[in-house]
Amino acid sequence: MCGIVGYIGSKNIYKYLINGLKRLEYRGYDSSGIAVLKDSKIEIFKKKGKVSELEELITGDINSSKIGIGHTRWATHGIPNDINSHPHYSQSKKLAIIHNGIIENATVIKKGLKKRGFSFTSDTDTEVLINLIEFIKDSEKVSLEKAVKIALNQVIGAYAIVIIDQGNEDQVIVAKKGSPLVFGLGDKEYFIASDPSPFIEFTNKVIYLGDEEVAKISLEKGINITSISNQVKRPKVLELAMELQDIEKGGYDYFMLKEINEQPKSIFDTLRGRLIPKSGIITLGGFIEYEKKFLNAKRIIILGCGTSWHAGLVGEYLIEDFARIPVEVEYASEFRYRNPIITEQDIVIAVSQSGETADTLSAISLAKRKGATIFGICNVVGSSIARESHAGAYTHAGPEIGVASTKAFTAQVTVFILIALILSNKKGIISSADYQSLINELNHLPNKVDNVLKNINSKAKYIASIYKDASNCLFLGRGINFPVALEGALKLKEISYIHAEGYPAAEMKHGPIALIDEDMPTVVIASQTENYEKVVSNIQEVKARNGKVIAIINEGDNEVRNIADHVIEVPLTDERYSPLINTIPLQLLSYHIAVMRGCNVDQPRNLAKSVTVE
Ligand code: AGP
Repeated sequence: MCGIVGYIGSKNIYKYLINGLKRLEYRGYDSSGIAVLKDSKIEIFKKKGKVSELEELITGDINSSKIGIGHTRWATHGIPNDINSHPHYSQSKKLAIIHNGIIENATVIKKGLKKRGFSFTSDTDTEVLINLIEFIKDSEKVSLEKAVKIALNQVIGAYAIVIIDQGNEDQVIVAKKGSPLVFGLGDKEYFIASDPSPFIEFTNKVIYLGDEEVAKISLEKGINITSISNQVKRPKVLELAMELQDIEKGGYDYFMLKEINEQPKSIFDTLRGRLIPKSGIITLGGFIEYEKKFLNAKRIIILGCGTSWHAGLVGEYLIEDFARIPVEVEYASEFRYRNPIITEQDIVIAVSQSGETADTLSAISLAKRKGATIFGICNVVGSSIARESHAGAYTHAGPEIGVASTKAFTAQVTVFILIALILSNKKGIISSADYQSLINELNHLPNKVDNVLKNINSKAKYIASIYKDASNCLFLGRGINFPVALEGALKLKEISYIHAEGYPAAEMKHGPIALIDEDMPTVVIASQTENYEKVVSNIQEVKARNGKVIAIINEGDNEVRNIADHVIEVPLTDERYSPLINTIPLQLLSYHIAVMRGCNVDQPRNLAKSVTVE
């Protein structure tokens, strides 16, 4: 996601645009830029890097401008560099646009515009959109507002756009669908932003633009809102009671809680444009070119650290179960130093949210030198690991600010599900009927995750209040949920500082059971799987030693409900997808315990969001 700001008025345009962008950097900071309309000419300043670097680029006194737009980028199309930064000119340079969202049919539109003589300087979908608008405006001889509506009826995807026209010094055109956009109503000035944080000290009177609505903002005529099909809209002016800090967190107390709750959207965004349920198709852009290598691979090695390593373990279960290709998962830090045997037949998948983890980067560089094919699963477009990989698939989770990784984990697992299903289908291992039903179930996962978040938070908080003073905690899971147990333990220990261990449930008898007593809570993932009965036995073994059991169960499971001390119910899904569901209660349990212990949830002691050193 990106941050966008716009301004029309006669006060301090420079201060609003720059400070406003700084407040939106939590939405992405790959690059930033502004455009101002001065002496009937649009001037753009933009570059890769943070807003503070942009400031050094800006020359001249732009305060004499009355209209300006600004953008801080979280790259989705085109790597972060100066050219791909926003704002973007139209070909004639008479228009400029900023955009937050994804135009999914940009490639097709671009081809059509090229045939009509348009050329492009960037790789972005945004430049395609502004040239489509310019083409319609000039060829159909309509107003900018009308051209925007016609164009938006042709695009597929999500957008929050702000457009300025050098021919009109008292007009900004704004439109949105699926990405946030809000107006601040000032005294003879109007503010536009992705959320109210950039203008909250100037005004708390806001209008939230609705989906498929277009606003024409003018100092003289005020705000006029219509739908893209020309229906007149009556905007509702709200008075905000929020503080600045709250707004950046979207009203949540911590970024971690915000990101836990963003998972229905981040999973949806990771699937968007890749999973086409109606036609039973899964396409993964960066994967297609190396599909044959994957299909002929003798072995797939998955590398990562921390949570990303846990996602890799889930990936192992998925790929081996669905595609029958041998998979090895290794800590990147171990792999790089043990003189591993690597051949040109090997595929190495690097998993990394930041794309900057030193151990993972070094490990794939080693594998690449030895001839392996490197496939990166990263959340930051253009990051070092993404650039070091031959190909890859981005998790579209948006910036993850909380040090404890949450939405990135479920997005990584989602990419592994897509890879495993594609390989299984291509190898003819799965019947087309099963393939279609798995695609349909995967399509429902964002909703199921949303249901979990809506239904279990208060239960997780209650259980957290009982066990917040525990010194140790055990997490048990079997099969594909063993890595989820590891992930739950990592979440608890890294944000609450309680010692926690994840174990395969069957392994408990080989030592950890000695730890069980009434002071040792044990979290057991007991969702319906082929090993369900064995997990029930493990719960009974813990109970027989006075251990306290917190069980994650599927709705309606009375067997475990009758033996566990606490249960958290989650919806049923295909066993192979269950990590996406079972992880959520563990994230919330750890979050609430950490908050109750007064820990700094977003920035736990001794930790960094990205370990770029060895
Ligand atoms: C997870 O909550 C931690 N923040 C940490 O283990 C993290 O997953 C690990 O450092 C790997 O980071 P990466 O995904 O950015 O490579």
